[in-house]
Amino acid sequence: MRGNRFLPDPLLQEELDQIFAAALAAPSVGFSQPWEFITVTSPEKRQQIAHSFFAENEKAKQLFQQGKFEAGKLEQYEQLKLEGIIETPLNIAVFYNPQKGPVLGQTSMPEMGKYSVVCAVQNMWLKARSLNIGIGWVSILDPEKVKSLLNAPQDRELVAYLCVGKVDKFYDQPELEMLRWQERKKAEQVILSESF
Ligand SMILES: Cc1cc2nc3c(=O)[nH]c(=O)nc-3n(C[C@H](O)[C@H](O)[C@H](O)COP(=O)(O)O)c2cc1C
Repeated sequence: MRGNRFLPDPLLQEELDQIFAAALAAPSVGFSQPWEFITVTSPEKRQQIAHSFFAENEKAKQLFQQGKFEAGKLEQYEQLKLEGIIETPLNIAVFYNPQKGPVLGQTSMPEMGKYSVVCAVQNMWLKARSLNIGIGWVSILDPEKVKSLLNAPQDRELVAYLCVGKVDKFYDQPELEMLRWQERKKAEQVILSESF
């Protein structure tokens, strides 16, 4: 879900508990559970985080400028509401907390810890959807700014910034597919046999 569909209605504590229970039930490498969640409701803090979005989004727009990319992409980009930081009653910042010392399963591919945090985000997303609650993932942010605003210790990494709230409707298709921003890939394009 994106910022154009969210309603300001508060969530019930019971709904939030269910979303977090789903997050904490996610699989993780070596059962390291390397996730931490900061709930953000303060309007001042959300305003400061929204400022980071606006600054980063200005930089993003330059990449979609006409001539450099497909014609009309910038106009289409500008019409998207790519965050719901203020519109939603709740934001959740999701961090990776690296474990000190070796983690079972993470010794060859260090990024597995962060992938585990993403599994928790996916669980939250699915649980929220089953409760008719929308989640939008905002990644057009300066992670260091968000860390500093939330007093995150230096070793933590921001994995996801989620806008959580009730919505006026869910789409039958991803919004970006509906708007023809990007086509859905066919199974045969991405599922190959034996080798690339
Ligand atoms: C890793 C990740 C990062 C995303 N970052 C953004 C973002 O910064 N802004 C945005 O509008 N959507 C972003 N999205 C997309 C959505 O949050 C979500 O897919 C969208 O709200 C609509 O759901 P749909 O894919 O079913 O249409 C991101 C999704 C993922 C998985």
